[in-house]
Amino acid sequence: MYKIIKAEFIATGVKSFKIEAPLIAKKREAGQFIMLRVHDRGERIPITIADSNPEEGWIQIIVQSIGKTSMHLNTLETGDALHDLVGPLGRPTHVDNWGTLVCISGGVGTAEALPIASAGRKAGNKVYSIIGARNKDLLIAEKEMSLVTDGVFVSTDDGSYGRKGLVTDVLNDMMKDGLVPNMVVAIGPLPMMAAVSNQTKLLDIPCMVSLNAIMVDGTGMCGACRATVDGKTVFVCVDGPEFDGHKVDFKELGTRQRMYKKQEAESTKCYLERMADEAAKGGN
Ligand SMILES: Cc1cc2nc3c(=O)[nH]c(=O)nc-3n(C[C@H](O)[C@H](O)[C@H](O)COP(=O)(O)OP(=O)(O)OC[C@H]3O[C@@H](n4cnc5c(N)ncnc54)[C@H](O)[C@@H]3O)c2cc1C
Ligand code: FES
Repeated sequence: MYKIIKAEFIATGVKSFKIEAPLIAKKREAGQFIMLRVHDRGERIPITIADSNPEEGWIQIIVQSIGKTSMHLNTLETGDALHDLVGPLGRPTHVDNWGTLVCISGGVGTAEALPIASAGRKAGNKVYSIIGARNKDLLIAEKEMSLVTDGVFVSTDDGSYGRKGLVTDVLNDMMKDGLVPNMVVAIGPLPMMAAVSNQTKLLDIPCMVSLNAIMVDGTGMCGACRATVDGKTVFVCVDGPEFDGHKVDFKELGTRQRMYKKQEAESTKCYLERMADEAAKGGN
């Protein structure tokens, strides 16, 4: 069991957990993730290690409720425990002194971009962050990002905060103002990473993306996270999760990501109905 030292919501449906995991806290590097189970009959899900403290022996994860397991996870509170977790998994981010690094993130991808921005700055880069969200309530980690970067730019789809528009619009604005990145890292929903990869390809700027393929074991054995990069088959859990965005077959990855939509929707519906039943019984 892995004790939750602190759990708190940081945005609508987005919760931050500090978890006691001293060995992982010592070993983990930027870009790596864990596979966790909430309970002994639960599925394993991959979650990025957003931060860690080797001295105090904890890791931090940031989780967005989108389906059954993430919703269940986000009901846990300080003092509860996760049934099990393994990690650190995946290859650490390759960080270099590129010059100017722009980290572009959407949704909970900002939690995943934080350790990369921080490592990029430690490597001597000027680091800027572009954060995109559907609206102000869904924006996370702006303050944390501002602590590890030289500037944060925000866009919201509805204009409720920052520039109205998409992260790609902000990158265009930046470049018009003379800020030209030597490297872009994009982490977020697949369509956003595909759009940034297309944009940077046209501009001849290297772009690294962190692929959120469906994972089952996280150790390269099951094949669930298969993707195609540069025409070759890769397993995202062991060969990634980061890849050259210009070479990723996003269309195929999108199709694979949607493979279990029906089962996921059924499972979420059952979970919500059970929760509603339990709440009704508790209320009687
Ligand atoms: C390397 C990696 C790092 C990630 N880091 C984070 C993070 O830091 N914070 C965060 O909130 N989310 C993160 N995710 C996504 C997270 O794993 C999914 O949101 C979660 O598994 C959804 O499960 P569910 O039961 O709640 O939703 P479901 O309703 O089962 O699924 C909703 C959607 O989530 C994705 N998904 C479902 N099951 C899996 C799975 N086993 N593996 C990967 N994706 C899945 C699919 O796109 C699916 O359509 C990461 C994914 C990967 C691959
Ligand atoms: S999750 Fe099984 S091979 Fe990657």
